Amino acid sequence: MTCYYRGVMKGIVLAGGTGSRLFPLTKITNKHLLPIFDKPMIYYPIQTLVEAGITDLLIVTGGRNSGDFLRLLANGKEFGLKHINYTYQEGEGGIAEALALAEHFSDGDKICVILGDNIIEGSIAGAVAAFKKQERGARILLKEVDDAERFGVAEIAGSKIVGIEEKPAKPKSRYAVTGIYMYDGTVFDKTRTLKPSARGELEITDVNNAYIREGTMTFNYLDGWWTDAGTFDSLLRAANLVHQTHAERQPVLAAVASEDCE
Ligand code: G1P
Repeated sequence: MTCYYRGVMKGIVLAGGTGSRLFPLTKITNKHLLPIFDKPMIYYPIQTLVEAGITDLLIVTGGRNSGDFLRLLANGKEFGLKHINYTYQEGEGGIAEALALAEHFSDGDKICVILGDNIIEGSIAGAVAAFKKQERGARILLKEVDDAERFGVAEIAGSKIVGIEEKPAKPKSRYAVTGIYMYDGTVFDKTRTLKPSARGELEITDVNNAYIREGTMTFNYLDGWWTDAGTFDSLLRAANLVHQTHAERQPVLAAVASEDCE
């Protein structure tokens, strides 16, 4: 019998894709290198993982600009890291295909996967701690939104998620499945069984539904704001939210610093 539970948790940032919804911004660079206020987009998901204590990281990217990630991030010194792992996605097969490339890196350990365009205000440390204690299965983070039809949408019955629909015309709830997913080592058995969806991609929603069918999916509600940044509107929204949060925090930080000096 394979024992999938080990204490270690690794982080995977998915940063491939063509970024076609942001064309022509993505004509000459990768979406995840575009600016969100004062930092390249990919800084935010990396910071989310590192802040939650996940420091063994793999960046999955692809396309003509993949080399720029190495130049930008190097060994992760700006995040307090000594090393970052990188892998290359050939083609555009979807999120679950990108994830499948992380099997070798994961090596049976639990993983926390974050989409490179998902930016959050708060912390995932609580959910990560809960998943470390969870014997097996998966854990996702939900956020109540006004435009659920843009996302994977969770159908909730009591304290359980009973199904997820990808971009439904008539969402069964207002709870979007954010692009932050925690999986045990069986996730790669599940990605191997996937078939391409109508949009020709291997869908992360199908991976999550496999865990739901197995009865091992858990979830948390995400605190603070959350946004993706893959469309013109959400890219602008992300920059504004980050800017606003900076502006709100600066006076607080300045006050704390001046108290320290007294
Ligand atoms: C992807 C997932 C979707 C999820 C979203 C979060 O959508 O397929 O289930 O809600 O990320 O950002 P995509 O950005 O590929 O349209």
